[in-house]
Amino acid sequence: MKKISLTQKKENEFKYAIGIMTGTSMDGVDVLLVKIKGTGVKTRYNEEIFVSLDIPAEMASKMRAIISEKRAGLEDICVLNYEISNLYHDSILRLCEMYSFDKKNIDFIAISGQTFFHVPGRATLQLGDGAYLSGLAGIPVVWNFRATDIAASGQGAPLVPYLDHVLFSKLKKNVLPLNIGGISNITYIPSDGDFNKIIAFDCGPGNMIIDRLVMEYSAGAAAYDKDSRIAESANFSETIFKFMLSHPYLEKAPPKSTGREDFGDHYVRSLMTFGRERGISLADMIRTATEFTAYCVAEAVKKWVLPKCRDNDPENGEMIMPCAGGGAKNPMILEKISKMLFPHKVSVVRSEDIGVSSASKEALLIAVLGNETLYLKPSNVPSATGAKNPVITGTVSIPFS
Ligand SMILES: Nc1ncnc2c1ncn2[C@@H]1O[C@H](COP(=O)(O)OP(=O)(O)O)[C@@H](O)[C@H]1O
Ligand SMILES: [Mg+2]
Repeated sequence: MKKISLTQKKENEFKYAIGIMTGTSMDGVDVLLVKIKGTGVKTRYNEEIFVSLDIPAEMASKMRAIISEKRAGLEDICVLNYEISNLYHDSILRLCEMYSFDKKNIDFIAISGQTFFHVPGRATLQLGDGAYLSGLAGIPVVWNFRATDIAASGQGAPLVPYLDHVLFSKLKKNVLPLNIGGISNITYIPSDGDFNKIIAFDCGPGNMIIDRLVMEYSAGAAAYDKDSRIAESANFSETIFKFMLSHPYLEKAPPKSTGREDFGDHYVRSLMTFGRERGISLADMIRTATEFTAYCVAEAVKKWVLPKCRDNDPENGEMIMPCAGGGAKNPMILEKISKMLFPHKVSVVRSEDIGVSSASKEALLIAVLGNETLYLKPSNVPSATGAKNPVITGTVSIPFS
């Protein structure tokens, strides 16, 4: 095959990349400026600047309404697709201005897009048009990271196991990186670093249920349960917990992925109706949702991970679980997971404890996937997504200037 090059810089030369992540929490635009070279396990990077910028309130509430109502006019979708790119562009300009960084030095931008709908294994919709953004910025943009995996019969999710492989396979330990965003997802990286043995899937809700309940509890004044203060002050409700346990997602075997379709507004509204009819306070629901979030992670590990990876394990079953994402700042979630998994030799730590920033991890993921795509390297993890084969994940848009 004729060798084509999508960037003028060589693979082993440092490049400045921007990775942009907007997750299901819609709490902000995470923008990472990272110096990156090499690919795969030879990737070397240095995080230069990380900022999480607010999404303008009007835009955030418009997006939330569309996602929770599962309804939008074609014009809304059409306009949002470009507005999200404008937001990304503004965010890059803000970062450059705040840190006096010359935009001309950016070699490429990689964007997650904002997920609006995800039908596992069939279709997925992230808004934010990369071609338009590349034209605005005058910089190549890598985007649309899920479609080729779905074409290969994968779920198109999760994307993070590739980064986990890059970051943690060299540790020669059993690592169970956990990300707690709106949804929580887990990866198992075996101590021998074998790519084909990776297990990864969405465990269930992350902060999604808690955030929505807190919004109701505070009449819109708070967006999340800071440091799990509300949960700490309330009581666990067995009745609410039982309601939550009956969610069919928990019994599904991986590969599996989830989102607002399963645990979003619609679900929380039915939960609140159920709780109110039984006189259960919102604070107790928040407490119980916090424990449920932790339970989903611990149960998923016990049910779908440990039985598959303990045979012939040279580490004698010891595992380390580095936690990232906003939910890693919720002390009760971490404490409960830790308690449930301690008897199974899993030690829960913050991602920072093993040298990976938890706030910027997903933006780093997007930059790493963009980098792989530029050098035509596959970066899905078929054992995690269920895809039939490895694929190059991103779409590259190169502007004319
Ligand atoms: N100090 C904190 N205490 C409790 N929860 C927190 C704290 N900081 C952030 N969070 C939670 O993290 C969420 C954002 O996590 P993030 O990883 O950005 O998710 P996403 O990838 O879905 O955007 C917030 O919505 C909130 O629920
Ligand atoms: Mg976020």
